[in-house]
Amino acid sequence: MQNFTYWNPTKLIFGKDQIEQLKTEIPQYGTKVLLVYGGGSIKRNGLYDQVISILKDLDANVFELPGVEPNPRISTARKGVEICKREGIDFILAVGGGSVIDCTKLIAAGAKYDGDAWDLVVKKAFAEEALPFGTILTLAATGSEMNSGSVITNWETQEKYGWGSPFTFPKFSILDPTNTFTVPKDQTIYGIVDIMSHVFEQYFHIGENTLLQDRFCESTLLTVMEAASKLVNDLENYELRETILYCGTIGLNGMLSMGSRGDWATHNIEHAVSAVYDIPHGGGLAILFPNWMKHSLNENPSRFKQLAVRVFGIDPTGKSDEEAGLEGVEKLREFWSSIGAPSRLADYEIDNTKLEEMADKAMVNGEFGNFKKLNREDVLEIYKASL
Ligand code: NZQ
Ligand code: ZN
Repeated sequence: MQNFTYWNPTKLIFGKDQIEQLKTEIPQYGTKVLLVYGGGSIKRNGLYDQVISILKDLDANVFELPGVEPNPRISTARKGVEICKREGIDFILAVGGGSVIDCTKLIAAGAKYDGDAWDLVVKKAFAEEALPFGTILTLAATGSEMNSGSVITNWETQEKYGWGSPFTFPKFSILDPTNTFTVPKDQTIYGIVDIMSHVFEQYFHIGENTLLQDRFCESTLLTVMEAASKLVNDLENYELRETILYCGTIGLNGMLSMGSRGDWATHNIEHAVSAVYDIPHGGGLAILFPNWMKHSLNENPSRFKQLAVRVFGIDPTGKSDEEAGLEGVEKLREFWSSIGAPSRLADYEIDNTKLEEMADKAMVNGEFGNFKKLNREDVLEIYKASL
């Protein structure tokens, strides 16, 4: 293992009716609250009314920023920063999926920064403080509810980058599985793919002696797959939603990568696609990840074989590590297709016209990937294999 320090200050509040805990959490931070949410799902499913009623009971002075887009945009974060500065907001409450939470992280840091919030995303400046914020998660996918990362899109320049800071961990996150009942089937599938992809990104590393980390990853994958195949046909099943919600948080709260450094190339490649085409993150990953795996298999075939055998039930007898590993990748492709995930860029009507542009965006900081370093040619090959 590599030396590591694990620090995660987010208070995780999990389970049915836990929204009640807002009543004790929010008063710790003040009375002027900015409520951030997305395109209206929380109004349709009643969560908005519940939150407003609690805030009213608390005598909070509530401001609202609705309309955070999936793949949240810098333009919306700027509006939030403006409200925070103008109104002297004490606390931000994000109610939604990863996009709402990511946007809130930038608003929180941007509110304490003198320049344009985009500087923080492109790392022209680094956050030195942030407003406190909490979340009510409504979609299992990103893990943003218990990490400090945030991914923001600049639609004018078609750029999408991840950034983060020690100040952008939520103070608390409330995860009630019933709040995810209304997530439509397609978004549920994208979430499942995203969760599994986070595990893969961390599983493919070059560290040594990660016996427990490997098994944490493998058991997370097995659990997600077991629940996912049932959940996609039973969207209001509490136990299944609960399982996936928990896996989503564990998938990206740092627990799986203690002592090792994950690859993360496929996320970079996907962000370049969704920067240009605005497709769902999980949909892009479902297309790209198996092709990254095939492209990278020779880097360490025994790791792919381990995944194939332990997670995808491949019998390795009489097979080389490459052969067994490849069978595992094929099984992953089959699994994702079986739950209804896309498998080709053509599924989003993406053809070969902008591959070079996407590759340029992916390469903006030079070669990347900790398990296998990818150069521009590698990226183009993966895009071409994904058409
Ligand atoms: O906007 P509303 O109306 O709320 O609808 C959303 C949105 O259309 C809907 N939705 C969410 N909860 C719902 C619901 N619909 C009905 N019932 C509910 N309970 O689902 C749609 C997608 O929501 P979004 O927040 O965009 O999805 P997700 O959580 O997958 O977030 C995706 C974003 O997170 C970034 C992605 O790149 C993308 O921008 N990521 C953030 C990460 C992080 N911060 O750690 C890591 C990830 O790898 C990822 O890159
Ligand atoms: Zn992701």
